[in-house]
Amino acid sequence: MTEAIPYDRGFIQRKKILITGASKGIGFALAKELDSKGTSLLLHASSEEGYERLWTHFEGRGHAFWQADFFKPHEIEASLQSVLDDFGPLDGFVNCVGVRLRRPVNLLNVSIIQDTFNANFTSYLEVIRLITKKKRFQSGLSILSISSISAHSGAAGVSIYAATKGALESATRCLAKELYKKEIRINIIVCGQVNTEAYQALMNSKEDKQDAVLERQYMGLLQPSNLVNACIFLLSESSCFINGTSFPADGGYLQ
Ligand SMILES: NC(=O)c1ccc[n+]([C@@H]2O[C@H](COP(=O)([O-])OP(=O)(O)OC[C@H]3O[C@@H](n4cnc5c(N)ncnc54)[C@H](OP(=O)(O)O)[C@@H]3O)[C@@H](O)[C@H]2O)c1
Repeated sequence: MTEAIPYDRGFIQRKKILITGASKGIGFALAKELDSKGTSLLLHASSEEGYERLWTHFEGRGHAFWQADFFKPHEIEASLQSVLDDFGPLDGFVNCVGVRLRRPVNLLNVSIIQDTFNANFTSYLEVIRLITKKKRFQSGLSILSISSISAHSGAAGVSIYAATKGALESATRCLAKELYKKEIRINIIVCGQVNTEAYQALMNSKEDKQDAVLERQYMGLLQPSNLVNACIFLLSESSCFINGTSFPADGGYLQ
C-alpha cells in the first residue's frame, strides 16, 4: 500500500470518520490505512459476512461497527441514530457502497431499478440527511462518495448503475451549494476500473478475459491504494476549497 500523504497525518489522527461499504475493496483499503494512522472509525457493512470480516480485522482497535442494508433506506434512521449517539460527531463520511447491475433494458423491471437506486443513491442521501443534523458533525465535515466512469461515458447494459452514479454526482453539486453554509464539503471520486474483489469476480465471470475498458484507461488497472490517498486528500483540510466536484481517478479514461 502506498504511504498516506505525510502532511495529513495530524488531521487524520484526530478525526472521526464513517466509512460505509467498508468490508470490501476500496472501503476496506481505506479503513486499513486510516486505522494504521490512528483515525477513529465507524465501519459499515451490510451482509453478515461483511460485518464478520470487519469485526475479525478491526476488533480491539477501538472502532465502532454498523450493519445496515441499503436496499432498505427506511430502516437506516433507527439503526444509525443509536450508533451515532455512542460514536459522536463526525469529521468525515466516505460512502463506498455500490451495487452493480449489468442488464439490458428488456431484462429490467421496476423492482430492480428501485432496489439499485435505493442502495446506490437513496440510502446515501438518507445518511447525509442524518449526519448533517445539529450535533452530528464537526465543522469542516467532508463527505465523499465513489462514482464510476460509466456515468460519464456510458456502456451497454449498465444504464441503471450508471444512472445511480449520475444521480450521486448531480446531487453532490447541489448539496455542496447547500451544505457549505454549515461548513460541510461534499465531493465525488469518479473511478475507473479498480482491482477489487468485485472487479475480479466480474472478470472471472466473463468468457473474454481481456478488459476492453483498459484500452482506454491507458494508465492501467487502478489499485485500491491509489484511491485511498485521493480519499484522504479530499477528507483533509488540504482540500478545503474543493467542493461539489467530481474528481477523476480514472487512469486517464475520461480525458
Ligand atoms: N471496483 C471498481 O472497479 C469500481 C469502479 C467504479 C466505481 N466503483 C465504485 O466504488 C465503490 C466501491 O466498490 P468496490 O469494488 O471497492 O467494493 P464493492 O464490492 O462494490 O463493495 C462495497 C461495499 O458495498 C457493500 N454493499 C453491498 N450491498 C449492499 C447493500 N445492499 N447495502 C449496504 N451495503 C452494501 C458491501 O458490504 P458487504 O460486504 O456487507 O456486502 C461492501 O462493503 C462502489 O460504489 C462502486 O460502485 C468501483
